Amino acid sequence: MKLAVAGGTGTVGAHVVEVARERGHDVVVLSRSEGVDLVTGTGLSDALAGVEAVVDVASTQTVSAKESTAFFAAVTRNLLTAETEAGVGHHLALSIVGIDRAPHAYYAGKIEQERIVRAGTVPWTILRATQFHEFAGQIRAQMSFGPVSIIPKMVSQPVAAREVAERVIDLAEQPPAGRVPDLGGPREERMAEMVRRYARASGARGLVLEVPIPGAYGRAMRDGTLVTTTDSDHGRQTFDQWLAARAR
Ligand SMILES: NC(=O)c1ccc[n+]([C@@H]2O[C@H](COP(=O)([O-])OP(=O)(O)OC[C@H]3O[C@@H](n4cnc5c(N)ncnc54)[C@H](OP(=O)(O)O)[C@@H]3O)[C@@H](O)[C@H]2O)c1
Repeated sequence: MKLAVAGGTGTVGAHVVEVARERGHDVVVLSRSEGVDLVTGTGLSDALAGVEAVVDVASTQTVSAKESTAFFAAVTRNLLTAETEAGVGHHLALSIVGIDRAPHAYYAGKIEQERIVRAGTVPWTILRATQFHEFAGQIRAQMSFGPVSIIPKMVSQPVAAREVAERVIDLAEQPPAGRVPDLGGPREERMAEMVRRYARASGARGLVLEVPIPGAYGRAMRDGTLVTTTDSDHGRQTFDQWLAARAR
């Protein structure tokens, strides 16, 4: 099958491309480094020639709801328009568990992305996943000030990006399915504890302070809003297993 992966150079996107190629699919990567700008639409229509399904795992880094919404709206509209012109029969978007239960600036864009996909004419699948194991390193990098890391008090249920990629390709190989069961990691973890273990495994020293964040999003982080509900699927690799595999 010929697949296009929007954001195929990213954290999960690189796994999506790898899994698809391992299974013998013909993969086109849509990212700026591959000459396609999904926000402006540059290079998109040529890239979709002959493509049967598009997997959207593009993302932006922002703490602004306006910027997040503008990014995901532009990317999704440009993809769906180009897919319609190219006769693509399946649009698959990766979203995040809890986006409609927790008020977060980035999530505003994900809600808009899902809304546009559902309202569009290209048959679709939406998979929501919890945070990837990589999130511990990302939040540590963002929230470290000298030797001190200030980490929000947060219950997470991290999942292996590789397992998310496997599920994404399973779904891309099937007909469009609408919203499918969420995918979370095998167990709940405290983010500050994950960051401590990540730092230790990386040979880093320093202090990790766990700080409750005020407001509705802070509450959602603490009270388990961002973990899966009972009707969800779960990956196998724990955070510690991922750390050990990463060290090898
Ligand atoms: N991170 C998590 O824990 C997590 C959990 C659940 C779901 N998700 C969702 O999974 C998806 C991927 O997240 P991620 O963390 O893997 O993303 P990421 O590592 O930040 O990668 C973003 C990708 O988007 C591409 N991109 C950004 N701007 C672009 C543009 N204007 N045109 C074309 N490509 C562009 C980047 O490539 P270039 O820079 O080369 O353009 C890169 O390939 C997102 O939808 C996210 O909401 C993430």
